[in-house]
Amino acid sequence: MLCRLHLGLRSVVFDLPEAVVHASQILAQEGMGERIVHRAGNALTDDLGNEEYDLIFIGNLLHHFNEQVNRDLVKRSARALRPGGYLVIEELQRVQSPKEVGELGALSNLYFAVTSEAGTWSMQEIADWQREANLIPRKQIQLFTAPGAGIQAALKPTSNGKTSVVERHRQAVPRAQRK
Ligand SMILES: C[S@@+](CC[C@H](N)C(=O)[O-])C[C@H]1O[C@@H](n2cnc3c(N)ncnc32)[C@H](O)[C@@H]1O
Repeated sequence: MLCRLHLGLRSVVFDLPEAVVHASQILAQEGMGERIVHRAGNALTDDLGNEEYDLIFIGNLLHHFNEQVNRDLVKRSARALRPGGYLVIEELQRVQSPKEVGELGALSNLYFAVTSEAGTWSMQEIADWQREANLIPRKQIQLFTAPGAGIQAALKPTSNGKTSVVERHRQAVPRAQRK
């Protein structure tokens, strides 16, 4: 969707080999050519690289892993970002306090605890992992179209004052026109 809207955008979709086998057939039908490519691997063990990407989006993955694994994944993702880039994490949220409403986060926490090694995390915990990776967390975003899910983005600061391609886009495109 984003690559259709922004013709200069290229994307690497990273997933397990058994998922890529199926997803690559769907991607081929979309006719995006070389602008969207799959990379088959394991996010827990693969080298994600060093300053290779302007934006890394991790969507609904951290609930599969325990805290130590997630801290490490966030650190390796931060290293793979260019300075000025963003690490954007979308997750079902576990509520921090009993006063917050969050049936989806609470129920999926139970579900993932039974079916995998982990469960849901709060946006505060994710922001702490980003801080530990020397990123600067932005204000969390609640998704009204997906109640219980949220986005926690964080910036990798630049040391030379230069702005990244992501920041130049933010400055060039008025908020209302951003897709
Ligand atoms: C819940 S789905 C989310 C899919 C998509 N990102 C979204 O938000 O709709 C989790 C995805 O993570 C992938 N996945 C699970 N463990 C992984 C790992 N160790 N390395 C890379 N991908 C993994 C699964 O194959 C699956 O595609």
